[in-house]
Amino acid sequence: MTDLFGGAAPYYAKYRAGHGEPAIERLAMTFGQDSTVLDLGCGPGTVAIPLARRVREVLAVDPDEEMLAEGRRLAAGVANIRWLPGDSTRLRELPAFDHIVMGRSFHWMDRRAVLAELDELLPADGVVALVGPGRDPGEEPGEEAMRPVRDEFEVNTFTAANSYQATGEHPHDVLAGSPFADLESTTYERRLTYDLDAVLGLQLSYSYTSPARLGDRLEAFTEAARKALLASNPSGRWEQVTSTEVLVARRKVTPGSA
Ligand SMILES: C[S@@+](CC[C@H](N)C(=O)[O-])C[C@H]1O[C@@H](n2cnc3c(N)ncnc32)[C@H](O)[C@@H]1O
Repeated sequence: MTDLFGGAAPYYAKYRAGHGEPAIERLAMTFGQDSTVLDLGCGPGTVAIPLARRVREVLAVDPDEEMLAEGRRLAAGVANIRWLPGDSTRLRELPAFDHIVMGRSFHWMDRRAVLAELDELLPADGVVALVGPGRDPGEEPGEEAMRPVRDEFEVNTFTAANSYQATGEHPHDVLAGSPFADLESTTYERRLTYDLDAVLGLQLSYSYTSPARLGDRLEAFTEAARKALLASNPSGRWEQVTSTEVLVARRKVTPGSA
């Protein structure tokens, strides 16, 4: 697997907003406190860490060792998370789980293949949950100022091969055509504020402007970004109204099958 987020893990852990308490609470209520939950594409534990307080165990799985290391560091003292290297193509190698959550990670996977495999692995009442940006997530802070900087450094955004943007197929539609076609969506709005360091840190948390992608141009990029951001907004404070969606997908219960 290619190094999608090379060097981004510490920035991801520090500067990417979590999904917010109400979204985590919604997931916890759905899974139940007696459950083992697979967090696939866990990153630095954005979902796994707050969820662990509310369920029996979390299997936190990611192909990126740096993300897992950040997660382990942040979760020091949390005993019921197992940090495991792995990815969506190796689900059968994992210990058994009752439910699965994917936070901002489904678009990196062969979505249909994952759902077909989950149909074999999840128990009858097993839930597939997605958490991430809603349909209208709002522009990233400082985005207007950052576009020309990315152009200058030729590190323009790319879309994950299996994302809605790349395939034209929204995750809702992929799930609706899968064995997990009973969908329930809840959206939460939040107002987030960022200072200059947070907007700069956010840039380095993205796969397309990760430290590995920038290589020895990292310092020059950060400096150019700093100048452009302050020129466009001398207050050094940014606001984003963002939406987070929790999508819960269950198998459809057909009459007579319950
Ligand atoms: C944007 S981060 C999401 C982190 C965290 N779950 C969250 O909600 O913020 C996406 C993560 O998916 C992981 N990833 C990429 N391809 C994957 C795959 N095929 N299977 C599992 N995880 C994958 C990346 O390594 C990265 O840590």
